Amino acid sequence: MFQCEMPIAVTTLDKKELLSAGTILTEQVAADVAALGRLQPYEECALLEYGTVRADLKRFLAIPPYLEIFSDQKLVDELLAQMQSVRLPLPLMKALDYFRQHDFHTYRHILMVFNLSSMLVKGLDDGRQKGEADFMAGPSHDFGKISVPLHILKKAGPLTAHEKQVLKYHPLSGYILLAYYLGDHRHPAALVARDHHERRDGSGYPRGIKEIDPVVEMVAACDVYDALLSPRPYRPLSFDNRSALEELTRMAENGNLGWPCVEALVACNRHGRPNVEQVVVSRDVRGTQPIGNCYGMVVDDENDANAEKN
Ligand SMILES: [Fe+2]
Ligand SMILES: [Fe+2]
Repeated sequence: MFQCEMPIAVTTLDKKELLSAGTILTEQVAADVAALGRLQPYEECALLEYGTVRADLKRFLAIPPYLEIFSDQKLVDELLAQMQSVRLPLPLMKALDYFRQHDFHTYRHILMVFNLSSMLVKGLDDGRQKGEADFMAGPSHDFGKISVPLHILKKAGPLTAHEKQVLKYHPLSGYILLAYYLGDHRHPAALVARDHHERRDGSGYPRGIKEIDPVVEMVAACDVYDALLSPRPYRPLSFDNRSALEELTRMAENGNLGWPCVEALVACNRHGRPNVEQVVVSRDVRGTQPIGNCYGMVVDDENDANAEKN
């Protein structure tokens, strides 16, 4: 059981309000939204076949370190065949268009987490056969960001406490949007959207829970890894690959993330791609983190030189 007060409204891109700001979100509220979504089933489309997705993905994969991680063509072909099974309702594709047009960082990130998490989830041995629903979780994890104003998503500097609070609710917004469009508030993709910023030591958000599903944690690790590697508005330079893997190692040492997902990411960076069980993760700190990183910093509203003026 959980309940959270939503500081922001959850609205679809075509302006249908699913939850108003101030709603106390419970599982029952999410179930009601899902029931509403089932009244109007949406046409679906294969994500890889939508618009320029496949071509964009190919372009992003040609950039290091992904160029090396995905250098085995046989593995890439197998992966693409698996990813081909992912079909999304058309309104969620519109969310992808929205990000491609207005927030290209998030668009690129969504596609790269799709690729990475599909690879890790495919190899996750939790005794379950993986299906389309599991592979759908990567690309849909951040769809809740359509509820976050663009001036917050694209802010080049530290957020204010209020902006940070708004941003922190994108997992719940994504949960509601996916519950609605998939007509199922317990769909794995909806649960990953809801929990992808939770951490196993309870230090995550928005709920601070400690029990994290293994698929959720794999997507969470890919989410952090790509966020570190990719260009972001809140820092002038991204992490190099070594520093990004060291940061994930530090998170595992601190109990934020489980070792299996860090080992899986390290394994796909090693020559010959060893089995995860054979990977020994280096604890040496040899990378150099980028300077000028504003991630996690908070400024007072009144001292906010970067605030949007309107
Ligand atoms: Fe997120
Ligand atoms: Fe993300």
